[in-house]
Amino acid sequence: MIVNKFQKIIYDLFGTSLYIGQPIRDQIKWISSRIPPEFLNRELDDLGCGDGRVTQLLGQVFKAKKLRGFDVYPSLVHRACRKGVDACIMDLEAGLPKGELAVMWGVLHHLKDREACIKTIVENYPRVFIREPIKQVPITVFEMGDPIDKEEIDNLVKKYLPGAQVLYYSYCVFIFYSRNGVK
Ligand SMILES: C[S@@+](CC[C@H](N)C(=O)[O-])C[C@H]1O[C@@H](n2cnc3c(N)ncnc32)[C@H](O)[C@@H]1O
Repeated sequence: MIVNKFQKIIYDLFGTSLYIGQPIRDQIKWISSRIPPEFLNRELDDLGCGDGRVTQLLGQVFKAKKLRGFDVYPSLVHRACRKGVDACIMDLEAGLPKGELAVMWGVLHHLKDREACIKTIVENYPRVFIREPIKQVPITVFEMGDPIDKEEIDNLVKKYLPGAQVLYYSYCVFIFYSRNGVK
């Protein structure tokens, strides 16, 4: 509860980031040459879009033909809209949109029931891209929320994202999942 209030104050004041730091820029650059072709030129929904800064970069590297953003915090959604992202307020734990390609960048570890959320995402989207920080001991990178350890990530992939391409870079995991038979 206190953590949520702290998080809200930070988001209200600064957005999800004051600026996009070098580690995130490096990750986006790294992933840009590894995106499977069937994920390019899609209608991209950024689930947990924050203030829209990263959404815009992801839109570029995925060559999105349409870009939407969804986030639970109104102040972040307003910031994203001001940056030109077609964003709206949505609690991803209460329901999810449907579309061509879902992207979740650093959001899963903020959710109370990530398993239920992944289950619904793969029902609503034929293609899913997830980037998550991996819980590290000792912690070398500060992350709000409850970062996931590698074992839980492996189990989630096995259960809900079978056949996904799973890549590791920096302190994160990058997952590309296509529903069987979808191109
Ligand atoms: C670490 S931030 C990442 C934001 C953005 N993807 C980025 O990289 O800048 C986590 C985001 O998840 C959003 N979030 C957390 N719980 C959510 C929920 N239940 N529904 C929608 N968004 C949620 C937060 O508001 C926040 O914008």
